[in-house]
Amino acid sequence: MATQQEVFGGGIAVVTGSGSGIGEGLAHHLAERLGMTVVVADIDGAAAERVAGALGAPGRGVPYQVDVRDADRVAELARWVRAELGPVRLLVLNAGLEQFGYVWDTPVAQWERLVDVNINGVFTGVRAFLPSMIADEGRSHLLVMASIGSVVSVPLQAGYVMSKHAVLGLTECLHQEIGLVGADVSVAAVLPGAVESNIFSSAGGVEEGDVDAAERQRRAMLAVHERAITPAEAAETIMQQAAQGEFYIVTQPEMVLKAMADRATQLAGRRPPAPFRSRFAANASR
Ligand SMILES: NC(=O)c1ccc[n+]([C@@H]2O[C@H](COP(=O)([O-])OP(=O)(O)OC[C@H]3O[C@@H](n4cnc5c(N)ncnc54)[C@H](O)[C@@H]3O)[C@@H](O)[C@H]2O)c1
Repeated sequence: MATQQEVFGGGIAVVTGSGSGIGEGLAHHLAERLGMTVVVADIDGAAAERVAGALGAPGRGVPYQVDVRDADRVAELARWVRAELGPVRLLVLNAGLEQFGYVWDTPVAQWERLVDVNINGVFTGVRAFLPSMIADEGRSHLLVMASIGSVVSVPLQAGYVMSKHAVLGLTECLHQEIGLVGADVSVAAVLPGAVESNIFSSAGGVEEGDVDAAERQRRAMLAVHERAITPAEAAETIMQQAAQGEFYIVTQPEMVLKAMADRATQLAGRRPPAPFRSRFAANASR
């Protein structure tokens, strides 16, 4: 079985949304454990600087401020990385955000931002980086950050769940497209369970309608995060499974694989979505 070092060691990595949370954990792991040069790409330029500056040897960090919604800027990033650093061995399309509240209460701007970052932000990355990754010599790897939310339904987080179902579908099709053209690019979907991060504190809410319901859901998810694994633990698990060539990479196998099995059973049995029970905690939906 190939080790992480054998597969990724010393190459160039680009991680979107690595100014915080899972992306930050991955950036540390890739630089410090695998000796990679890590482009810390984030909309928050100060966070990108802070994280890139904190990455230790044997790798290093390179900060890059970019909004993944902006296809031209992401294309510029891809060109810059190839010209200045070299061919990308690992691209992690990780930037994403959350939104709480009933669908009918959700402000249009928040809905559009969610779709733009979580879905279109994966498309802009694929469009900018994949042609070179397909053309360049040697094997390269794409990890797309999906979620346990890609295989469940959760009320009051419908926009997020929708976006992560979309991201999983996109990644599965992309895997098939790479197979069709016979390129030496491995494509995988990452489905984390709960990982410590800023995603719930920075999530959008609603301004009108049932504001309390949206904020209750935020508090419930923040409580779930108190029992989350750390980004460092997530990064170790993700990269270990990536090195082994898994397509569905899961950070908490017991929980995420059960969610996947439940989803398959629900669809095969044509069962409508069951009344919501949190898989994370008995009282998390209150
Ligand atoms: N934390 C979890 O429990 C969890 C579980 C499943 C999936 N995920 C997924 O992991 C990914 C990372 O989330 P996280 O939990 O680490 O959240 P986080 O909020 O801690 O980090 C997200 C990062 O993305 C950046 N970002 C936001 N919009 C951006 C944009 N337009 N362009 C570039 N960067 C942008 C933010 O500035 C931030 O640094 C997301 O795709 C999320 O859906 C997280």
